[in-house]
Amino acid sequence: MAGGSIANGVKGKDYHGKLTFRVFITCVVAAFGGLIFGYDLGISGGVTSMDPFLKKFFPDVYEKENNIRPCTHQYCKFDSEVLTLFTSSLYLAALVSSLCSSTITRVFGRRLTMISGGIFFLAGALLNAFAENIWMLIVGRMLLGFGIGCANQSVPIYVSEVAPYKYRGALNMMFQFAITIGIFVANILNYFFSQMKNGEGWRYSLGFAGVPAIMIIIGALFLPDSPSSLIERGQEDKAMQELIKIRGTPEVGEEFKDLVAASEASRAVKHPWRAIFNKQYRPQLTFAIAIPFFQQLTGMNVITFYAPVLFKTIGFGATASLMSAMITGGCNALATLVSIALVDKVGRRKLFLEGGIQMFICQIVITIAIAIKFGVNGNPSALSMQYAGFLVGFICLYVMGFAWSWGPLGWLVPSEIFPLEIRSAAQSINVSVNMIFTFAIAQIFTTMLCHMKFGLFIFFACFVVIMSTFIYKFLPETKGVPIEEMSIVWQSHSYWKNFVKSVEKDDPEK
Ligand code: BGC
Repeated sequence: MAGGSIANGVKGKDYHGKLTFRVFITCVVAAFGGLIFGYDLGISGGVTSMDPFLKKFFPDVYEKENNIRPCTHQYCKFDSEVLTLFTSSLYLAALVSSLCSSTITRVFGRRLTMISGGIFFLAGALLNAFAENIWMLIVGRMLLGFGIGCANQSVPIYVSEVAPYKYRGALNMMFQFAITIGIFVANILNYFFSQMKNGEGWRYSLGFAGVPAIMIIIGALFLPDSPSSLIERGQEDKAMQELIKIRGTPEVGEEFKDLVAASEASRAVKHPWRAIFNKQYRPQLTFAIAIPFFQQLTGMNVITFYAPVLFKTIGFGATASLMSAMITGGCNALATLVSIALVDKVGRRKLFLEGGIQMFICQIVITIAIAIKFGVNGNPSALSMQYAGFLVGFICLYVMGFAWSWGPLGWLVPSEIFPLEIRSAAQSINVSVNMIFTFAIAQIFTTMLCHMKFGLFIFFACFVVIMSTFIYKFLPETKGVPIEEMSIVWQSHSYWKNFVKSVEKDDPEK
C-alpha cells in the first residue's frame, strides 16, 4: 500500500488504479440515467404553462389564467390540485419503485435495474405523447416515475463503486450533470415546441422523453456489472477480471481483498432493512434521511418544475416565461460543471456551506423584489424589462448556488457513505425520502404560492439556514476517503464517534 489519503486528519488506504478510459465511458453511460430524471423534472412546468395543453386537460385553469373566469388574485391563477398531480404523480410512483429496486439491485445487479428503468420510461413517454385524457397523462407520468425510481437507485451506487476513489466525487457528479442537462434540454424543447402552430407541441415535449430512455437501455446493455455487485452475487473470478480491466493495472489485490471482506461482512447481515436501524449505522441513517429532505427544502424544485408558471404569475408573457426558464436551466447545468471541477479539491463541506449562504441571500432579495411589485394582493402589474431582468438574474444566482452544492452533493454524499451491507437499503431510503418531498413540493407549490404569496421564498430560506447549520455541525469531510474505509471518518468525528466506536464489538444483526 502506497501513500495515503487525508481527510479530517484521517489516514486511509491508497488503492492502485487510474482513471481508465473504461471507467470514464462506464460512468458517462451510467450517468445517462440522470438524463431521464432531469428531462422529466424539467418538462412538466413548461407543458403546464402551454395554453393548448391547459385548454384540453385543465379548462378551469385556462379560464382563470386568461381572465375568462374570475380569480381572487394573481398568486392563485394556477392553484389546481389536479394540475399539480400531473407533475407530482411521477414522484409518488418513483417512491414505490425505489423501494422495490433495492432488492433488484442487490440480487440481480445494478445493470439490470438500469435497464428496467429505461423500459418503464419508454412506456410512460409513449402514453403521454398520445394522451387523450387526464388519466392517460397521469398513468404515463407514473410509468416514468417507476423508471426514475430504478435509475436513481442504481446509477449513483454503480458509479461510486466503479470509480477510483480519488475521482469518485467528480465522476459521480456526472449523474447530477446529466440531470441538469436533461432539465435544460426539456426547457429548450418546451420553448420551441410551444411555438408549434397546431397547438400539439406539448405532445412532442412529453414524447421526447423516450430518447434518453432508449439511450439508457442501449448503454446499460453494454455496461459491465460493478466488481462489488459481482462479488455480492458470488462471482469472484469475474469480479477480479473486471476490477483489473477497470483499474487498468493488475495490482488490484489490496482493493479486491477489501471488496471481498466488505462483501463477507455484508452477507453476515441477513436483514439490511433491520440492520440499518442499529446504533452503529446511526450516522448513515441520519444522512440518508436528512440530506434528501433538506435538498428538497431548499425550494429548488419550485424553479425546476414551475419556473414558467412562476414567471407567468409574476407578469411575464408566455414566451418570455419559457425563455427565462431556459436561462435558469442553462445556469443550472453550467454551475454543476463548476462543482465537478471543485468537489475533489475543496471538498464537500465548503461547497455545501457556500451554496447555502448564496441561496439564502438570493431568496431574501427575490422575496423583497416580488413583495414590492405585487404586494399582498398580487395586483397584476406589468414588469419593466429592467425589473424582470433583475429578478431573473437573482433567480439564476440562486439556482447556481444550489447547482454547486445541494444539487450534486445531495446524491454524491449519501452514495459514498453507505457500507456495502446496508448500501442498497440505505440508498432506497435516500431516494424514497427525496421522492416523498419532491412529491410534496410539486403537489402543494401552487397552493403555497396562492396562500403564502411572496413569503413562499422566506419559508425555504429558513430551511436553508437550518440545513447549513446541520452540515456545519454534523457532516465530516469525505473527500479522498475510499468507500470501504469510510468508518474511520465517523470514528474520528466528535459526535458520531459515540455511535460507531462499538462496530467491532457489536453483532451487526443486533
Ligand atoms: C434534485 C432534483 C432537482 C435537480 C435540479 C437534483 O439533484 O434531486 O430534485 O430538480 O437536482 O437540478
